[in-house]
Amino acid sequence: MTQKLPFTLTAVVAFDKNFGIGKDNQLLWHLPNDLKHFKSLTLNKNILMGRKTYESIGRPLPNRRMIVLTRNKDFHSDYATVIHDLNKLKDVIVPTDELMLIGGAELYQLCLPYTDKIYATEVDAEIKDADAFFPKLNETAWKRASEEYHSKDEHHNYNYTFVTLTKNAT
Ligand SMILES: NC(=O)c1ccc[n+]([C@@H]2O[C@H](COP(=O)([O-])OP(=O)(O)OC[C@H]3O[C@@H](n4cnc5c(N)ncnc54)[C@H](OP(=O)(O)O)[C@@H]3O)[C@@H](O)[C@H]2O)c1
Repeated sequence: MTQKLPFTLTAVVAFDKNFGIGKDNQLLWHLPNDLKHFKSLTLNKNILMGRKTYESIGRPLPNRRMIVLTRNKDFHSDYATVIHDLNKLKDVIVPTDELMLIGGAELYQLCLPYTDKIYATEVDAEIKDADAFFPKLNETAWKRASEEYHSKDEHHNYNYTFVTLTKNAT
């Protein structure tokens, strides 16, 4: 695929101090405010995910158009658009649209060269047995454009920070 897409690609992710994002095809924590944050960032948008994340979610996400990437030509979904190659994105998305990439590890890695912006939730935890990770970012390539810290409370086991990362001009 070419390095420039005809639309903006924005990743949404929550990772721990070691960039852990999941274990056994599940998330590593339950942070209700992060789920609300995810919803507000993705509502009424196209959301791209790998087949494993699609299966981990296991249901349609209301008011979002789900696009799932798989190599399996027999894969079928009643509620998601299925593609087998990132090059097909341009056939299913209007060029002016913003595409939200919602995981998981393989998809973040695959799409990092084309990602323009990252909404990251930095979770103040080190989950020992995570088995899925966000790719390591080249710190000089990304700028922390904003951040918003939240302390843990009775509904949230960890402190967490909503961060917006934007790509530095090359
Ligand atoms: N913390 C967070 O923000 C967050 C967000 C999302 C997910 N997660 C976690 O991440 C984990 C899942 O990540 P994952 O890396 O295992 O799976 P994934 O990225 O969700 O999906 C991987 C699958 O995508 C398909 N795929 C990947 N590259 C492809 C390509 N080039 N062409 C066609 N299809 C391709 C393949 O599907 P087929 O095998 O069907 O061919 C592959 O098995 C789970 O633990 C989940 O809970 C965390």
